[in-house]
Amino acid sequence: MARILLCDDEKNLRDLLSLALEESGHQTQEAANGSEALKLLEEDSWDLFITDLKLPDISGLELLRRAKQLANTRPVILITAHASAATAVTAMKEGAFDYLEKPFSIEDLNLIVTRSLEQGALVKENVELKKELKAKHEHRDIIANSAAMRQVLELANRVARTDASVLVTGESGTGKELIARFIHNSSKRSNGPFIAINCAAIPENLIESELFGHAKGAFSGAVNSRKGVFIEAQGGTLLLDEIGEMPMNIQATLLRVLQERVIRPVGGTGDTPVDVRVITTTNRDLTVEVAEKHFREDLYYRINVVNFKLPSLRNRREDIPLLVARFVETFAKRYDLPIKGVSPEVMDCLAKNPLSGNIRELQNIIEGAVSLTPGNIVEITALPEHIRNAKTLTQNSSQAQFQLPDEGMNLEKYLLDIELKAINQALEQTKGNKTKAAEILGMSFRSFRYRLKKLNMEDEEG
Ligand SMILES: Nc1ncnc2c1ncn2[C@@H]1O[C@H](COP(=O)(O)OP(=O)(O)OP(=O)(O)O)[C@@H](O)[C@H]1O
Ligand SMILES: [Mg+2]
Repeated sequence: MARILLCDDEKNLRDLLSLALEESGHQTQEAANGSEALKLLEEDSWDLFITDLKLPDISGLELLRRAKQLANTRPVILITAHASAATAVTAMKEGAFDYLEKPFSIEDLNLIVTRSLEQGALVKENVELKKELKAKHEHRDIIANSAAMRQVLELANRVARTDASVLVTGESGTGKELIARFIHNSSKRSNGPFIAINCAAIPENLIESELFGHAKGAFSGAVNSRKGVFIEAQGGTLLLDEIGEMPMNIQATLLRVLQERVIRPVGGTGDTPVDVRVITTTNRDLTVEVAEKHFREDLYYRINVVNFKLPSLRNRREDIPLLVARFVETFAKRYDLPIKGVSPEVMDCLAKNPLSGNIRELQNIIEGAVSLTPGNIVEITALPEHIRNAKTLTQNSSQAQFQLPDEGMNLEKYLLDIELKAINQALEQTKGNKTKAAEILGMSFRSFRYRLKKLNMEDEEG
């Protein structure tokens, strides 16, 4: 059984069609003109739409276009009088499944309806499969070896099933946009548009029209009307990057849009309903912005239904080797170079480097290194000097800064002093647990005990 919407201005024909289709076990609904059909198309989901080409108000072709916009996979059948066969050809080009030329028999009708429904189901299945594949692909595109990133992806997967507003926070270049796209592509909106705009990059006086559109002549310079990103993202996802930069007065309008789900273009009249999932990002701390009255508290709660905090690369070093490998592969391919990977020395340098935490920075370093590499392996000399020379994280900073005093020194005492400090700190960190303290200091429990004894730190029972 399928749900079929029928549109024809001739009541007799409508009733006849309806009767025949219901007899074949389908459920039908009738529309007497184009605008009625449009309303029903927008309100509900139909498996098939059958419409006359010639209607008193809207042309059947226009209806076909709208129906395809609303649900691209739904089949549409047009009914034409033989005089308009040329238009029927146009209709086929515009995506109509088929057309019925008047007069037609009930058998003809049933045949075309059955075929269109079968095809519609196939196309839909195909789209679903593609969507699944795309999501899987995306999944592979995001490197998440670290527990912190795996957790982020898991949450993203869960949130993708809903329409909840998502706020993605994190330092610059930590993958905020990547996660926003991932959520979109894994959601049921994935066939709709993904539109991203950077609130910080738009001049303040243009933000409102950029977001909500404007009517022709709304302000000087508004020669034509403009849609705005909310309308462009209709049926999909809108990413508002750097939401913290949004001026206060626009924040109020945005809040109203998010609450009421309608927009009004600048200088326009009447509200247009919008069906858009909004994802926002910021690298500011919005709670501080709220406290300092730079950001509306009510808007903050509105956009922050689910919060993702992306860990900095500093806190997920396990991801560095995989990211390096991925970027080498990407750029080798892009520049058509036979590069296979990086030398262990390069990997070691990058993995221990106090990088800023910005993945884009790592990406740029690799791009530069790849383009400088003559052979198959990226060698340490291809890395920028400041990266090669950076103190690695495991290097003891006191050692790196050590400078032998001119007057000489007592090395024995100096070393004992450092040893004592390290042991005390390790014990403090582990709340006195010697096994763990030994681990932190990279020595066996036995040598740890030996050192404690030497320093007279062994307690009674130890
Ligand atoms: N986990 C990851 N796996 C693979 N690539 C990543 C990952 N995270 C980020 N990237 C890559 O790093 C670059 C920066 O990511 P993205 O633009 O999403 O960051 P951002 O947080 O939006 O940055 P900004 O704060 O500058 O807007 C992109 O090229 C992205 O593809
Ligand atoms: Mg970004």
